[in-house]
Amino acid sequence: MSERPAAASGEFRLGGSTIHRLGFGAMRIVGKGVWGEPADRRERLAVLRRLPELGVNFIDTADSYGPFVSEELIAEALHPYDGLLIATKGGLTRLGPDVWAPVGRPEYLRQCVLMSLRRLKVERIDLWQLHRVDPKVPREEQFGVIADMQKEGLIRDVGLSEVSVEEIKAAQAYFKVVSAQNLYNLVERRSEAVLDHCAAEGIGFIPWFPLAAGKLAQPGSVLDEIARAKGASTGQIALAWVLKRAPVMLPIPGTGSVRHLEENVAAAAVSLTDEEFALLDAQGREAA
Ligand SMILES: NC(=O)c1ccc[n+]([C@@H]2O[C@H](COP(=O)([O-])OP(=O)(O)OC[C@H]3O[C@@H](n4cnc5c(N)ncnc54)[C@H](OP(=O)(O)O)[C@@H]3O)[C@@H](O)[C@H]2O)c1
Repeated sequence: MSERPAAASGEFRLGGSTIHRLGFGAMRIVGKGVWGEPADRRERLAVLRRLPELGVNFIDTADSYGPFVSEELIAEALHPYDGLLIATKGGLTRLGPDVWAPVGRPEYLRQCVLMSLRRLKVERIDLWQLHRVDPKVPREEQFGVIADMQKEGLIRDVGLSEVSVEEIKAAQAYFKVVSAQNLYNLVERRSEAVLDHCAAEGIGFIPWFPLAAGKLAQPGSVLDEIARAKGASTGQIALAWVLKRAPVMLPIPGTGSVRHLEENVAAAAVSLTDEEFALLDAQGREAA
């Protein structure tokens, strides 16, 4: 493994930061159901501290992971974040393990940002993402308060999560949208139109759950055969496929284990031929 393997994924200019495309999602470093403290805190801190050593300089989190635990662990392990882009999110409340509820009232979104600033120990959030557009609150109010906070210098760049092309365009009347974070992987393709829009506009597309390949990863499958031939894992092939899909693609695989982290980051150096890419693409679309 090269010393800073994430660099092999290439660079992307995400708002005011230049990052390596293969990042890290910090949702899996907290307790079960994305709720509470992790069972093995020491291992989770070791995962975070290993990131810069591996060349990972883009870390995605949210106030709701724990809630609060993920941001607190990131601050403990990595503050003052030399050369790292810490992207967080707000606007999604937690009512228990695996329970999520959007709240987009402007007062609440402002509190989200102010509390993330406090927990991350920064004066400005470099990339703040609206975790969900709350359907119960006029979206103009949600976008408006975000634009205000950007003008006030609390947020540098703004991203969105689980949005349509139409919502991205509506938000752009208020602020520049630098990223969209939607569910996307080999077999989950509902956001193809959003991805194509991001690729055309140079907006970063952050696919969450990027490791999944469903039944395509079964022993004896084409994916499995490609993985064996390259001495790679099926998860690494799934990531390599996502990375090859578009230059704006910024996958953030997440894990609570250093061993899994090292395996995932090594995927940056796994290359697929155009034929392998097309074969997996066709199978993924069929399975989706
Ligand atoms: N915007 C949103 O609404 C949204 C929603 C969900 C997630 N996200 C973000 O996206 C990130 C990634 O999403 P995700 O965590 O759902 O999916 P993921 O990163 O594709 O998969 C994570 C799962 O795979 C396991 N795993 C990771 N590396 C592995 C390896 N090398 N071998 C075997 N198993 C491995 C993890 O368990 P171990 O811990 O045991 O490795 C975990 O169960 C999250 O961390 C979060 O930042 C955003």
